[in-house]
Order: sequence, then structure tokens, then C-alpha cells
Amino acid sequence: MTDAFGRKIDYLRLSITDRCNLRCRYCMPEEVPFVPHENILRYEEMVRVCAAAARLGVDTIKVTGGEPLARKGCAGLVRALKEVPGIRQVTLTTNGVLLADQLPELLAAGLDAVNISIDTLDREGYRAVTGRDDLPRALAGLEAALAAGVRTKINVVPLAGTGREGLLALAALAQDRPLDVRFIELMPVGHGADLAPFGQAELLAALRERWPGLASVEERRGNGPARYWRAPGMKGALGFISAVSHEFCGDCNRFRLTSEGFLKLCLCYGGGVDLRPLLRGGASDGELEETIRRAVWNKPAHHSFGRGPTEEGRLMSQIGG
Ligand code: GTP
Ligand code: 5AD
Ligand code: SF4
Repeated sequence: MTDAFGRKIDYLRLSITDRCNLRCRYCMPEEVPFVPHENILRYEEMVRVCAAAARLGVDTIKVTGGEPLARKGCAGLVRALKEVPGIRQVTLTTNGVLLADQLPELLAAGLDAVNISIDTLDREGYRAVTGRDDLPRALAGLEAALAAGVRTKINVVPLAGTGREGLLALAALAQDRPLDVRFIELMPVGHGADLAPFGQAELLAALRERWPGLASVEERRGNGPARYWRAPGMKGALGFISAVSHEFCGDCNRFRLTSEGFLKLCLCYGGGVDLRPLLRGGASDGELEETIRRAVWNKPAHHSFGRGPTEEGRLMSQIGG
């Protein structure tokens, strides 16, 4: 499937719940009204959308949230997605808090890779960012993933409060372990504009000072927009996802389905199409495919960060990043 700009769209991000067990300050800092249960798609409905997308050429599904492992039966969904003809890879992005418990069944279901969000290794700092004292559980999730040998990345949103040393400590995890550490530029979506970021340029300079041999890596290390760097002897790699300072929309390969069944063409752009009425109103597979194909064709050229009226009204927890 291609869009009007000739981009090949083969990656679908599936947000399976808007709920989360953490309250990250840039995402869902306080209690928010959750989507009523009856408006959340059942797993069978999500699988039906993914199967239609697969018939249109999608081969990769990212399961996100909120926190995907906070919804019961996530491993069962992964299994069902892996059985969809045409789906090659199913990966998960999680805060890791519930991962150690669920990893065996996720791997048995065929999960291909996992990204774990950990913004600091300092327990008090973690509590300050996430509102919960769950760093030990998130780290247990990380250890479980590494022990199981599944492809693992850490997602870090660099915040001013974490500081240079805190960020270098996270980067150092990639030195001795087969693990990529990615630094995600804070995006002005939802509460993303409320916090002070640690600048990407300053961070790269600090990393180069610590690893003078750091060089950019050309090979592909995932399906996303991250750009990677590596120093000699480093087991993993360091990545940067810089949606604001280095817009990567020209290479975009993805679209999104919210847990309510709304097809979003871009992380940060109004518009899209509500598939729930089709799913619940007896639409045929052909109609579903045609609706998806048409929506994707009209994918916007780039995000609308800071561009006013087309800006996104949803919280990041409702979009899934
Ligand atoms: P993999 O490398 O294959 O795991 O994919 P990924 O990096 O896209 O996955 P992940 O879910 O870990 O996303 C990491 C960060 O990238 C999150 O903060 C996402 O919000 C951000 N991101 C992912 N896709 C996009 C995108 O299309 N646009 C923008 N602006 N940000 C994105
Ligand atoms: N800017 C950048 N990244 C964000 N995430 C959530 N909100 C934002 C934001 N405003 C990240 C999470 C997680 C990933 C799915 O998205 O930290 O790693
Ligand atoms: Fe794609 Fe939109 Fe993300 Fe840009 S911001 S990379 S167009 S989803």
C-alpha cells in the first residue's frame, strides 16, 4: 500500500488500551477519564482490522497502549496476530513493569521484539517521572527480556531533570549488553510540552565525549525512525528518535489504530477515520479494506507539531506513541 506521496506503508501501530499502570508526567500525569469499556475494540475486532491491513501489504504490527500489558490477554492477541497471513513481525512497546510475569507467554505466542521505556535508572527520579515506585519491576522486565534472548531496546525520553550523568548511565547499558538504548526527543503532544527536555544535540555531544569512537550505523535495526550510533566494542547501539529537530516524515512507513478503532494517519495530525461503526455495523471485508486504503492514501505529508489547527487533541496514552 502506498500513499499519495509514494511512501510505502507496511507498519501498523495498534494501541490496545488507553489505560496505564504508570502516570508519566509527559504522557498521563494525572487521572484522566478512560475510554468506556464498550468503546474499546475487542481483540477479534482488532485482528480483523490487522488482517485487512495485511491484505493491503502491512507485514509488521507494533502492539502499544497506554500500557499494553495492562490489558488482559495480550499474549493471546499476539498469537492471533502472528497467525494472520502476511504478518511477519509482531513487536511490543511496554513500560516493562508487568513484563517479567508475562514474557514467557508472549514469547510462546511468537513475539518478535520488545521495547521497554525506562527514562532513568535512579529510583527516586523514576518515581518523580512516572508517579510510581516501580523501577525495580521495570528492571526485572528488562532482565527477563535479556535472559530470554529476545531482541530488546530501551526507550528513554531525555529530560533535563535526569541530567547528563543519568543519561550516560542509561547509554552505558548498551556497552556490555546486546541492547539498543534509544533517546526519544520529547514531542509536544498531550503533556509533552509541559516538561523541560535534555537537548538531543547536547546529549549527542556528551555521548561522543564518553565514547570518542562513536560513529553512525547505516544498517537497519528495527522498523522505526531511530538513527543509530555505535562505538567500537559496544555490544548494542545508541539510537536517536528526533521527530521535532530532524523530522523523518518523508520516510514514514506507518499508520495507527487507537483502542477505540480510530485509524490515525499520523502521530500528530487531526483527521483519520473511525472504523468502529464499520466493524460493528456489518461492513464487509472489502469495504473495510477500501476504507483503509483510501485513508492511507490521504496520509498527511508530515506531522503538525506546533502548527495550530491540525494539532492532535489526544493524549499520547490514547495514541500509543
Ligand atoms: P522499532 O524500532 O521497530 O521498535 O519501532 P519504533 O521505534 O517505532 O517503536 P517504539 O514504539 O518504541 O517507538 C519509539 C518512539 O518513537 C515513541 O516515542 C514513538 O512515539 C516514536 N515514534 C514511533 N513512530 C513514530 C512516528 O511515526 N512519528 C513520530 N513523530 N514518532 C514516532
Ligand atoms: N514525547 C516523546 N516520547 C513520548 N513517549 C510518550 N510521550 C512522549 C512524548 N510526548 C514515549 C514513551 C514510550 C514511547 C511509546 O513513547 O516514553 O517510550
Ligand atoms: Fe509519520 Fe506522522 Fe510520524 Fe511523521 S509524525 S513520521 S508522518 S506518523
